[in-house]
Amino acid sequence: MTAKARQSIAPVCPHFDPLAPAQNANPYPVYAEMRRESPVFYSPLYDMWVVTRYADVAAVLKNHAVFSSVGSMQTTPHLPASVSAVLANGLGAAQLMVESDPPDHTRMRAAVNKAFTPQRISQLEPRIRQIADELIDSIVADGRADLIHQFGSPFQGLVICELFGIPGSHSEQIKRWTDDWVEMLSGGANEERMVECAQAFVECQHYFLEQLRERQAEPREDLLTAMLPINMGGTASMNAAEAAYNALDLVAAGHETTTNALSNGLIQLFTHPDQLDLLLSDLSLIPNAIEEMLRIDTSVLGLFRVTTSDAEVSGVTIPAQSRVFVAYGSGSHDEERFEEPERFDIRRANAREHLAFARGIHVCIGAALARMELRIALERLLTRLPNLRLDPDAAPQRLEHFWTRGYKTLPAIWDAPSS
Ligand code: HEM
Repeated sequence: MTAKARQSIAPVCPHFDPLAPAQNANPYPVYAEMRRESPVFYSPLYDMWVVTRYADVAAVLKNHAVFSSVGSMQTTPHLPASVSAVLANGLGAAQLMVESDPPDHTRMRAAVNKAFTPQRISQLEPRIRQIADELIDSIVADGRADLIHQFGSPFQGLVICELFGIPGSHSEQIKRWTDDWVEMLSGGANEERMVECAQAFVECQHYFLEQLRERQAEPREDLLTAMLPINMGGTASMNAAEAAYNALDLVAAGHETTTNALSNGLIQLFTHPDQLDLLLSDLSLIPNAIEEMLRIDTSVLGLFRVTTSDAEVSGVTIPAQSRVFVAYGSGSHDEERFEEPERFDIRRANAREHLAFARGIHVCIGAALARMELRIALERLLTRLPNLRLDPDAAPQRLEHFWTRGYKTLPAIWDAPSS
C-alpha cells in the first residue's frame, strides 16, 4: 500500500484546531476525546499527524532515528527573498540543538551540558532568590500588579542574564530579539514584519558572537565561557556560529516557557482555593505542587518531529516525511497513567511523571534550573504577598498560540502592608 493510500484511510480529526478560541482556552477536552477514539490521527487542517497517548508520546520521543528533529520547528520553509537577504548578514548556516539529530545533536548537547552542570545551577540559588525579592520589593506596597510584566518575565530575563554572565540591563533587548526570531520561525507574519524579525535575529547573533569574543579575550566563570568553541580558545565542540545560535536558543527556550509555567501554575492555585490553602499551610509541598502545575497545564503543549520512514504508532502507519505533533500536554492528562487526570491535586503521588519536559535525547536541558526558579518564585510570592489572589476587576488574558500555553497578562491583588 502506498503512503498516500494509507493516509486516506487513517483516522482523521477535522475539528482539531489548537488556534480555535475554544480549544485555545482549553485544549484538553479534544485531546481526551482523541485519546479515547483515535489516539494517533491526521489533521487535514494543519497537514500533520498528532500523537496523544502517554505511552505513544514517550515511545516517539525515544525513537529519534525515525522521528527526526531536523527542520521540525520551521513552519515557513520558503522564506521570501527579502528575508533571506537580511539573514545572509548573519553568521551563516548553523544548527540548533533542538532542531538536530545525532551525531550533531550529541556533540552540541555534550558541549552545553558541560556548561549546564548541577553545581553551576545550584550556585545561582541565592542570587535567584535575591532577584525575586528585589522585584517583589518594587511592587509589594502597591497591593496589585500584573504578575507577568512586573514579576514573571523580568525574573526569568534576569536569571538568564545571570546564568550567561551578561548584564541584567541587556535582558529586555535580548528578549525582544528572541521574541522576533520565534515570530519569524512561527510564520504568519507579513513580509515587512518578517524582514524586521530577520534583522532582529541577525543583530542577536552578532550580539552573542561579541559576547563570546569578550570571553575569548578574558575567560570568566559563566555559561558563555563554558560554551566557548575550541577554535576560540575554549573547550566546546562547536563553531562560533553554533555557539551563538545555541546561546540565543537557550534564552528563547528558557524565558517564555518558565514565565508561562509560573502563570499557568498560579492560575491553577487561584482557581482551586482548597489547594492554595493547603500549600500555604505547608510550603514544603511546593516542589510537588510545581510538578502538578506542569502536569495539569504545561507551557509547551507539544512539539514537532518529521518521520524519516513509515512509522507505526498504536497500529496506525504514519507515512515517511510527515510532520508529527507530539502532544506532551495530552500525554500528561492520560487517564491510563494519571488517576482522575483533570483533578488538580498538589499531593498527587506520581505528578513528576508528567511529560512537560519531554523525554529522550531532547529532554529539556534547563529542567533543573526551571524547577529551581519556579520553587523560589512561588515561595517568595506566597510568603511576601499576603492573601495573593486574582484581581476580580481584570481577567487574565490567554496567549493565542499553537503549542505555547500561557497568559499575556495576569492581574493579581494582595493585602498591601499599611504604610
Ligand atoms: C518550565 C519551563 C520549561 C519547559 C516546560 C520546557 C520544556 C521543554 C521541552 C518540552 C523540551 C523538549 C524539546 C523537544 O522535544 O524537541 C525542551 C528542550 C529544551 N529546553 Fe526547555 N523547558 C523549560 C525551561 C527551560 C530553561 C529554563 C532552559 C534554559 C535556560 C531551557 C532550554 C532548553 C533547551 C536548550 C532545549 C533543547 C534541548 C535539546 O534539544 O537537546 N528550557 N524544553
